[in-house]
Amino acid sequence: MTAIVVVGAQWGDEGKGKIVDLVAERADVVVRYGGGANAGHTLKVNGQKVVTHLLPSGVLHPSTRCVLGAGMVIDPKVLLDEILELEGRGLSVRGRLTISSRAHATMPFQAAIDRAANAGPRAIGTTGRGIGPTYSDKSARVGVRLGDLVSAARAKPAIEALVEAYRARARAVGAPEPTVDEALAYVEPLMREIQPMLGDASLAVDRALRANERVVFEGAQGTLLDLDHGTYPFVTSSNTVAGGACTGTGIGPTRIDAVFGITKAYCTRVGHGPFPTELHGPAGDSLREAGEEYGATTGRPRRCGWLDLPALRYAARVNGLTALAVTKLDILSGYDEIPVCTKYRIDDAHTSELPVDDLERAEPVFERFPGWKENISKARTLDDLPATARAYIAMIEARVEVNIAMVSVGADRAETIVLGDPFARGR
Ligand code: IMP
Repeated sequence: MTAIVVVGAQWGDEGKGKIVDLVAERADVVVRYGGGANAGHTLKVNGQKVVTHLLPSGVLHPSTRCVLGAGMVIDPKVLLDEILELEGRGLSVRGRLTISSRAHATMPFQAAIDRAANAGPRAIGTTGRGIGPTYSDKSARVGVRLGDLVSAARAKPAIEALVEAYRARARAVGAPEPTVDEALAYVEPLMREIQPMLGDASLAVDRALRANERVVFEGAQGTLLDLDHGTYPFVTSSNTVAGGACTGTGIGPTRIDAVFGITKAYCTRVGHGPFPTELHGPAGDSLREAGEEYGATTGRPRRCGWLDLPALRYAARVNGLTALAVTKLDILSGYDEIPVCTKYRIDDAHTSELPVDDLERAEPVFERFPGWKENISKARTLDDLPATARAYIAMIEARVEVNIAMVSVGADRAETIVLGDPFARGR
């Protein structure tokens, strides 16, 4: 087994960073295949906290090579700032980073339009990082790829078309109108630094796989934010599901050996859109405080609620999960009973499948499972857990029908119960 996709099984923020960090320990290459600076990983570099948005969490391992795939949208300034910050803290990045020249660049005026559109009843509650505009410009074939920006001769015509498209949009929302000269002056010094790292991400990954190296594809966001399979229109603009690893990198599905899904022991969501198991009022507040549920990119408080098993079964299906990690089990300590959504009711009919297009109308049906009071952060095996916590994990495994390979009981990498090898199919 050499290639594994690590994917969020909920609405993002499942704790992928910690799990990728553990898995990446055994990886030669870590690849990001979609999304952009909307993601956020909080990393510890030489004891200091650093948040990365574009570089995968695998960058923490000094000998791991990193690849940013064609499916990403990359704000060159955010990227360069991240590289410089990590290098300033003693972690060299440039010599081991390949950035697809096909990835699309996010320009400041695309981010400005994203923020301006983030109001009103149909607002998505985006991260304001220009993700939607950059992907829609890509689909409309007026986008600018990083490879277009390597020389003024190539950059000028590409930027002209995009700036032209944005003048009217900027006027309409009262944002400053972009100009070609300003845009060129903005990207030129950034691209001077980034250009040496541009390359063919597909080829880099293919070579690693042929050499039988271990490759980890690090998903961003989560399954229910997928443009096609999420809670549209309250989604991000890329394919966050495991299949996105193929299209976003340029490798075929036959090269993927395993798909490792990450779920919290409960649920969170940032931004707007349906969230049937959401807890409002003090119950939601106490879960948020216990789990420190604030967005790494925007600092927004995350909406919190109980675990949604139909949603998790859906994630298992659309990603083809071969194993699951359950994170933040420790946050559930202290409850007498833990409600879990096990099915949905719509018009007096019950279903255990997620009614993904009908979530506003669907009513979650909860079962209650016995809780536990103990602090479980010192547990390193299932036997160290109280019987009710063990039963909670076994219940998830049985109902989702995917083996649980890891249980996280704290933020530290040591605070993990390892039950199986995520690189293998099943335990
Ligand atoms: P966008 O990706 O900035 O366009 O935002 C679209 C939706 O996805 C919003 O609800 C965001 O809050 C959500 N979103 C985007 N990236 C993340 C993430 O990394 N974690 C959680 N939610 C995200």
